Amino acid sequence: MIGRVVFSGIQPSGNLHIGNYLGAMRQWAAGQQAGLNIFCIVDMHAITVPQDPNVLREKTLEVAGLVVAAGVDPEKSLLFIQSHNPDHANLGWALNCFLSMGQMNRMTQFKEKSEKKDFVSVGLFDYPALMAADILLYDTTEVPVGEDQRQHVELTRNVAERFNSRFGETFVLPVPVIPKSGGRVMSLVDPTKKMSKSDADLMGAVGLLDEPDAVVKKIKLATTDSGTEIRYDVKKKPGVANLMGIYSLVKGKSLAEVEVEFQGRQYGEFKTAAADAVVGLLKPLQARYKELRSSGGLEKILANGAKKSYELSHKKLMEVYEKVGFVRQ
Ligand code: TYM
Repeated sequence: MIGRVVFSGIQPSGNLHIGNYLGAMRQWAAGQQAGLNIFCIVDMHAITVPQDPNVLREKTLEVAGLVVAAGVDPEKSLLFIQSHNPDHANLGWALNCFLSMGQMNRMTQFKEKSEKKDFVSVGLFDYPALMAADILLYDTTEVPVGEDQRQHVELTRNVAERFNSRFGETFVLPVPVIPKSGGRVMSLVDPTKKMSKSDADLMGAVGLLDEPDAVVKKIKLATTDSGTEIRYDVKKKPGVANLMGIYSLVKGKSLAEVEVEFQGRQYGEFKTAAADAVVGLLKPLQARYKELRSSGGLEKILANGAKKSYELSHKKLMEVYEKVGFVRQ
């Protein structure tokens, strides 16, 4: 084991939004000083629900570019596309055989994602086995994610423990690292639901590539209650609380400071300030993104990431193959 190893992933299954940034990507960028940092664009997870192939191809590069634009430095971290390293699928298969149907049945995200769908793939049900493989291949110690992924990281620990107790020490048990605030950014339309890439209502999420006009419009039209007070109360004022959370994270202020700043002021004024703050956050990120995409540098970063990640993961996969009893070539 080589000390601190950070691994996280993101699906290229839609438009990345400020929830992805505040809940996950920001932590990825901030934590790169020490140890090994690995970030993966999980295209194989994305096909667990129907995708248009051309859109998926473009979104995969878009998400990779946004991860770099958000501050993941290819000099300090590995960035690669999941399907470029076959070890992920191969370990995912092996782990399938050490996870029970009952355990998988308890995954709340599967329940949410399969609700009211005509077609639910086995891949969607089995998704956490592949996620566990992503993490366990690298002796990962920390998994920086938003709150919605906590249960999947717990399952990863679980399957690692089961494998270790049967075959001897093989996998490191990872811990989920979830930000104290920002771990669950809510929809601007329905602040009782999380902001989501797959939300059909595009007004619910501020995309990382949204134009300033769109950002302002979405935040100004965000659902708030009929009161006037700008106070942090998730139960009684979920819409205002969500905007306050976003504003406080973007500005680096505490919620108490935000309350003081807007004491006696109207929702309209607060929303204008929140919109300005988000536009200010996105502007430099979007500029970096455009430059990276036009320079052609992204493909090189991804090719290097795929090669290096395979060098790391393959040893682990071979150890697993040996332990479960496969004949080695
Ligand atoms: P995904 O692609 O849905 O989301 C990427 C990251 O963004 C976080 N996130 C949020 N955080 C705060 N508020 C929100 N509204 C919000 N929406 C999303 C997610 O928690 C996540 O950290 N299964 C994972 C991808 C994955 C992965 C992995 C993660 C695959 N393998 C291994 C970690 C380690 C997913 O679907 O994330």
